[in-house]
Amino acid sequence: MYSKLILLLGSTFTALVYGQSASSTTTATVPAGTAIPGDYSGQYRPQIHFSPPQGFMNDPNGMFLDDNGTYHLYYQYNPTDTIAGNQHWGHATSRDLYTWTNQPIALSPSNSTSFIFSGSAVLDPNNTSGLFLNQTNGILAYYTLSGPTQQTQNLAYSLDNGYTFTKYAHNPLIAIGSPQYRDPKVLWYAPGNHWVMVVSYAQEFTIEILTSPNGLTWSFASNFSHHGLLGTQYECPNLVEMPMQGSDETMWLLYISINPGAPLGGSIGQYFPGRFNGTHFSPVDHAARIADWGKDNYASQFFSNIPGNQNQVSIAWASNWHYANYVPTGPAEGWASAMSLPRVNYLRNATRTGYTLVSLPYRLEGLRGGEAVASSDDLGSNGTLFADLEGGSGAFMVDVNVTGLNVSGLSNTASVNFTIMASGSGEVIGGGIFLGGDATMWIDRGGIQGWNNIYNADKFSTAYVLEDAFDFQVVVDRSIIEVFGLEGEKSATLVYYPEALLDTVVVRTSGLNEGASVTANVYSLEGTWPSGQLQPNSTVNGTALDRRNLLESQLWGV
Ligand SMILES: *[C@@H]1O[C@H](CO)[C@@H](O)[C@H](O)[C@H]1NC(C)=O
Ligand SMILES: *[C@@H]1O[C@H](CO)[C@@H](O)[C@H](O)[C@H]1NC(C)=O
Ligand SMILES: *[C@@H]1O[C@H](CO)[C@@H](O)[C@H](O)[C@H]1NC(C)=O
Ligand SMILES: *[C@@H]1O[C@H](CO)[C@@H](O)[C@H](O)[C@H]1NC(C)=O
Ligand SMILES: *[C@@H]1O[C@H](CO)[C@@H](O)[C@H](O)[C@H]1NC(C)=O
Ligand SMILES: *[C@@H]1O[C@H](CO)[C@@H](O)[C@H](O)[C@H]1NC(C)=O
Ligand SMILES: *[C@@H]1O[C@H](CO)[C@@H](O)[C@H](O)[C@H]1NC(C)=O
Ligand SMILES: *[C@@H]1O[C@H](CO)[C@@H](O)[C@H](O)[C@H]1NC(C)=O
Ligand SMILES: *[C@@H]1O[C@H](CO)[C@@H](O)[C@H](O)[C@H]1NC(C)=O
Ligand SMILES: *[C@@H]1O[C@H](CO)[C@@H](O)[C@H](O)[C@H]1NC(C)=O
Ligand SMILES: *[C@@H]1O[C@H](CO)[C@@H](O)[C@H](O)[C@H]1NC(C)=O
Ligand SMILES: *[C@@H]1O[C@H](CO)[C@@H](O)[C@H](O)[C@H]1NC(C)=O
Repeated sequence: MYSKLILLLGSTFTALVYGQSASSTTTATVPAGTAIPGDYSGQYRPQIHFSPPQGFMNDPNGMFLDDNGTYHLYYQYNPTDTIAGNQHWGHATSRDLYTWTNQPIALSPSNSTSFIFSGSAVLDPNNTSGLFLNQTNGILAYYTLSGPTQQTQNLAYSLDNGYTFTKYAHNPLIAIGSPQYRDPKVLWYAPGNHWVMVVSYAQEFTIEILTSPNGLTWSFASNFSHHGLLGTQYECPNLVEMPMQGSDETMWLLYISINPGAPLGGSIGQYFPGRFNGTHFSPVDHAARIADWGKDNYASQFFSNIPGNQNQVSIAWASNWHYANYVPTGPAEGWASAMSLPRVNYLRNATRTGYTLVSLPYRLEGLRGGEAVASSDDLGSNGTLFADLEGGSGAFMVDVNVTGLNVSGLSNTASVNFTIMASGSGEVIGGGIFLGGDATMWIDRGGIQGWNNIYNADKFSTAYVLEDAFDFQVVVDRSIIEVFGLEGEKSATLVYYPEALLDTVVVRTSGLNEGASVTANVYSLEGTWPSGQLQPNSTVNGTALDRRNLLESQLWGV
């Protein structure tokens, strides 16, 4: 959660988004007990990504998988404007991570000077907190209360699976008088039979690790300070156990978001693979590893209640504090910011670079709905594949797999490109990989006209260590593009705001060696925000497509 919010809160909130007139307190206009309606038909509206019904969204919060198989996503939410401020926890639920049901706001500030900042949620099946009578599905939600003079760590609990919360009577749990102390992420450490919290001293570049037997009283365990990139603040720490590919042992990952001061400007996430013994985290080495080579992937959070020996599932905020308050969706459509795709994560020992976080779209194949729109079994060394997606949802996917490469024999111009165009305006996003020499993947959003901002960088690139094969997937969704390369070793997330819908794909190869083979497929993806519920003021429940059965069969064993 961004500390400058406090300053924004002093400004006047303009144009309340659902018709009620401004009153002296902003909270007076926020509906309680009912989901806020959303119109998901706008030209910028992602069709398979989560975005808030109205208003401004940032960090994902409180993500947990309930014991009934439903994923809960809470998020930093300003229900009364399309810029940051007035922080609540919005809430949505999904059984497949694509079809979402908007829920009533889960946590609201009790007055206009203390706001509900980022945090996390866990199940307390053993009633360690003593808050849960006769139930094993009690939820503990930890959040930062950001007040005029300090940020404190607080608790709210839910008796109904995370739909409604009661603020704990003895809040705050932790108050140290610091104005820059936030974003608690809590987990259960089974070997030690205790809870663990990681929380950020943002401007001291320190992640504090605390432990607790009951989730209520917390003791200092250790600090993790000044590792990797500092930016100018550490935020939103996550500590999560996950599989190491090819090994029976799990590893731990400490994930830290930095803002501002990312290498590409603004905000980004970095991670540290390592070991955790219940009180101390030890990274495997001194390297800083950046999670995304685009500019719009921040505050990633991992769902709690997924066992550490299974692949972990994450969602990030797909924006950047550099320009999140200035994107055109607010004025045009009354909402701002979407989440990244849900991602499946584990660690891999990557060629040469070693420990690497793999991040791949979570079971996206369930949205393909049929045959590829365009397909080639072998594009050859100088081939072109063309796909016309006009009339589709605006969400589609390009899947390319190159094998049989003789990398050392390739010229520096050997390449595979994807070009994504808007037939209505001629706008274009270009991208591709140069395979010879120092292999480099690139993407260029500079051909998009509908948005201009001094921090809106156009061109991005990253280096790859290639052996004899390379694959990439590109997922496009009206105003977000995500690129995954080398089976998820590299991912890039970018937003863009075109004048017309991107609806045409060209994949092109050039200069590959004899014996190289390129398969390419372009799939249309079915929107998960049902068109039948797109009327203004209606509540989008996000389930009408009834894809649920298909996806549910794939839910487990991610
Ligand atoms: C939607 O709500 C607004 C504000 O309450 C109202 O002015 C408008 O008429 C409503 N639109 C429809 C289609 O009901
Ligand atoms: C569990 O999930 C089913 C199917 O979605 C739903 O009908 C039921 O209400 C859920 N139970 C709880 C306690 O959320
Ligand atoms: C606002 O709410 C917070 C949290 O409940 C409380 O600590 C604070 O005293 C309240 N401030 C005012 C001015 O009522
Ligand atoms: C949970 O803990 C409280 C406080 O110790 C106790 O009153 C209650 O009976 C416990 N509930 C269960 C199901 O153990
Ligand atoms: C908890 O369960 C016990 C045993 O079934 C029952 O006697 C008691 O009334 C329940 N308490 C609550 C608060 O539901
Ligand atoms: C609950 O208790 C069981 C049995 O002691 C233990 O294995 C498990 O780790 C505990 N889990 C939580 C979240 O308290
Ligand atoms: C955890 O690691 C720290 C630092 O190496 C050490 O001091 C502590 O004793 C270890 N705790 C356990 C339970 O192994
Ligand atoms: C990663 O693979 C390299 C090359 O096979 C090997 O030398 C190294 O020990 C591996 N590292 C890990 C952490 O498994
Ligand atoms: C590649 O294909 C284009 C169009 O078919 C052709 O004009 C060009 O000569 C080809 N280049 C090579 C190197 O084969
Ligand atoms: C690419 O194709 C090869 C050969 O068919 C296959 O072994 C590999 O799994 C494919 N990679 C991806 C990411 O689909
Ligand atoms: C890919 O795009 C780059 C940059 O425009 C260009 O240099 C290269 O020739 C293109 N390759 C193909 C196969 O189109
Ligand atoms: C959406 O959910 C609300 C609240 O549960 C319900 O009243 C409404 O009927 C649902 N609408 C549709 C189209 O399912």
